[in-house]
Amino acid sequence: MEQYATTGEQFNAREVFYLYTTESIATTGFGIDADCFGRGSQFKDMVKRFTGADASSKDMIKLLVLIMFPRLANLLGINLFDGESLGFFLGLINDVVKQRKDQATTAAKRNVMVDLLYEALTGQVNAEIKEQVKEEFDMSETKQKNLVNLSEEELKTLLMSNLLLLFLAGLDTSSATLAACAYFLSTEVEVQERVYNELLDVMDAEGNDELDYNAVQKLNYLDMCVHETLRCYPLADIERKCTKASYSSLR
Ligand code: HEM
Repeated sequence: MEQYATTGEQFNAREVFYLYTTESIATTGFGIDADCFGRGSQFKDMVKRFTGADASSKDMIKLLVLIMFPRLANLLGINLFDGESLGFFLGLINDVVKQRKDQATTAAKRNVMVDLLYEALTGQVNAEIKEQVKEEFDMSETKQKNLVNLSEEELKTLLMSNLLLLFLAGLDTSSATLAACAYFLSTEVEVQERVYNELLDVMDAEGNDELDYNAVQKLNYLDMCVHETLRCYPLADIERKCTKASYSSLR
């Protein structure tokens, strides 16, 4: 972005934020430096294949067969996800599980999602979190204990499904919202200036050169800009309808 700002060159915001979000998922989800902006990033290629971002018309036909004629798809060996990319991510998860088992106590905690999930699924959470789960999910400690009594296969499946969800639910949604927000900010210079000043103020107040999670929570004006972007370009509809008798609509 800095380079584009200096040269004044036009750029495709959608592509840039797609790569940025992929890089964020690689870092925060898997703890990997994926170099998504560089050439030949395997992680980026695998994400594209897994999410079908580069799907051909042949792939679209396969998908249609899968949705409309699942039995035929089964007979023809058509799968929803690309096998190679699925294998790639499973490999990453296997590595983490292996590393965790080998160095149960010595492995440095990286605070990335795959590690945090691993800890949660194997019951290595502190009393505060246990209490939170008890309250929020109305779940007793015995039930929590049963939940973490998983076989290694179940553990890997849960890790895999939750991490891959980051790509399926979080990648297009977040990157498209960021791209639209950046576009609005480029056309509304006064708003952009306010966002920028808010960033400087918060960084100043926190005494940090970099924004961390807690500092980001204080960026109220930026939050409003993201909300306004979503108001102008809502990405998704709420398709679900609560059928419980106790449900009372605000409308
Ligand atoms: C701007 C970004 C995003 C938008 C606009 C968005 C929008 C939505 C909407 C509207 C739903 C509800 C769908 C329904 O009721 O059927 C939903 C559900 C969900 N989203 Fe997002 N989402 C965003 C980012 C993310 C991210 C980053 C993640 C994961 C890290 C995520 C994970 C999920 C999950 C797991 C559900 C299902 C929740 C459930 O089953 O109760 N979303 N999202």
